[in-house]
Order: sequence, then structure tokens, then C-alpha cells
Amino acid sequence: MKATPSARRSEPANPATIARALHESFLDTSSKVALAQWDDVLGLQVDLFLAHELGFLQQFAQWRNARSILDVGCGNGYYLSRLAPFFPEKSYTGLDISAELIGLARGFRGRPGLSFAAGDFFRIEPRQKVDLVLMRFLVQHLTDFEAVLARSRENLSPGGTLLIIEPELNRSANAPATPLFEELLRTFERARVGQGTMRASLDAMADYGRSHAVWETVCDTRVSVPHLGPFAGSKVVAMYLRWVDLCERSGLFAYDFDAAREELDQWAAEPSSFSRIGLRFLAFQLRA
Ligand SMILES: C[S@@+](CC[C@H](N)C(=O)[O-])C[C@H]1O[C@@H](n2cnc3c(N)ncnc32)[C@H](O)[C@@H]1O
Repeated sequence: MKATPSARRSEPANPATIARALHESFLDTSSKVALAQWDDVLGLQVDLFLAHELGFLQQFAQWRNARSILDVGCGNGYYLSRLAPFFPEKSYTGLDISAELIGLARGFRGRPGLSFAAGDFFRIEPRQKVDLVLMRFLVQHLTDFEAVLARSRENLSPGGTLLIIEPELNRSANAPATPLFEELLRTFERARVGQGTMRASLDAMADYGRSHAVWETVCDTRVSVPHLGPFAGSKVVAMYLRWVDLCERSGLFAYDFDAAREELDQWAAEPSSFSRIGLRFLAFQLRA
């Protein structure tokens, strides 16, 4: 059953309630159109970023040493399906609040070491402890960092690690500039921060574990993912156009979405076009 706006207002501090409310707007996958958009964009984001993420993961000791991984907000499972073959000694469980996305993820179930479950991270009882909780492109949609840490701790073995991977819009840029698209992303960011999400709080999160009794910040690394145009027909412009679609469908704010699409089409045809997207890797380890 869908929560009504008044029901949302009556339980503002419950992260599970907030997760459901957010899931109903931007993260909604209940219609065929929305599910297809999410499936598409998640695939593009993996294809465009995974090589750069692997470069980080291969160097990151806590990842290398982990034997069991819980991927919270695993989406359609494509990320785990592409990642797992590079680290076949690990076992992976993907969890997502969207039953529809988990329906797609289950298509990867036959792959060694992979399993998937539908559920809200803030509600379901941890089944078994894991060495590493992964949140890729999830924290930007959540609202309560303390709840993220508390829930992660319940799911982790002693000495376990929470690894957060997030895009960084303020370290991303297109050349030539695409001001309508960039303003759209900034407007989206403001709307989401207005909803209480942690989109803009990565710096505060990084500081958190520097002096905390339970958690230690063990990694705060940035990489830049560059691509060279022209981008007509490319995955880069397809991903940008999908971001526009998702913003429009969310109904979070009014905007001239078609003008942003036109601008991107023109940019994609530019022979000297360039795209750079920032990624940040933040990790917190349970102190011994
Ligand atoms: C942007 S997608 C990222 C998907 C995937 N991690 C990837 O990188 O391809 C965020 C996902 O988190 C899921 N999600 C949001 N809140 C959640 C919660 N409380 N518990 C489990 N999954 C959640 C959403 O349904 C969505 O699939």
C-alpha cells in the first residue's frame, strides 16, 4: 500500500518510512516505463564506470580481504554480475527495496557466488554477518547516516567495512559546457537535499569516522572518469538523457526538460566534446 503524504509527515524520523517515501518518487520502479528507465540507466552506469572502480577495488585492502559482500541497493544486479568474475573468491548478496529490480537481478542468480533478496535494508533482520557492506550510488538517496551506520554494524562481522561509492556532481563537467543540463542536475540536487537526503553530506560523513569510537574512516579516494566525444549514439549521452528522463518522471521540480535534451543532442554531435564525472570512495571500518 502506498503511504499518503500525511502518513509520511507523521513518522518523519523513521528511516524505513523515509526510504519508502523516497522510493515512491524518484526511485519508483512500479510502472513498466519506470522500471525500463532504471534498468537502462543502471546498466549504462556500470558499463561507463566499472573499469575505474575496479582500479580502486584492486588496491583497497579491505575489499581484497573481504570474503562476503552485502550489496545494499543492488538495483537490477548488473553491477554484481559484472564485478563478481573479477573477484571470484568472494560471495555476494544483493538486497534491494524494489521487488521489480530484484525480479530482474534474479536473472543473474545462476552465476557462482551471487544471490539476491528483496527488502528494505532498514527493516529486514540481518541473515548472516558479512565482511563488507557495499552501497554504490545509494547513500545519495538516503536520509539518516546514523541509521546507515547502525544497520551496517548489525550486518558486519567484527572489523568489517562499509564501502560507499558515490558520484560527485561538483567534480563533474562537460566541455563545451551544457548549462541547461548542469542546472537541471543542480536543481535536482537541491530538490533531493530539500527532501532530506544525504546528497550533499559526503564531506561530513568522511569527517565522522576520523574521531569516532566505533568506526574509523579508512578510505576517502576520488577518481575522475573521463570520456572523449563526439558522443552521438554513445553510452555517455544515453546515460545523461536517462538522468533527464528520471528527473522529469519523478515530478520533483518543474523544468524545461526538452530544452536540456536538445542541448545534450547538440553537445553530443560536437567533435571536440569531453565529459568528466567524479566518483568518490568512502570507507568506514569497525574498530577492533
Ligand atoms: C541508484 S540505484 C543504485 C543501484 C546499484 N547499486 C547500482 O549501482 O547499479 C539505488 C537503489 O537503491 C535501492 N534502495 C533505496 N532505498 C533502499 C533501502 N532502504 N533498502 C534497500 N534498497 C534500497 C533502490 O531501489 C535502487 O535500486
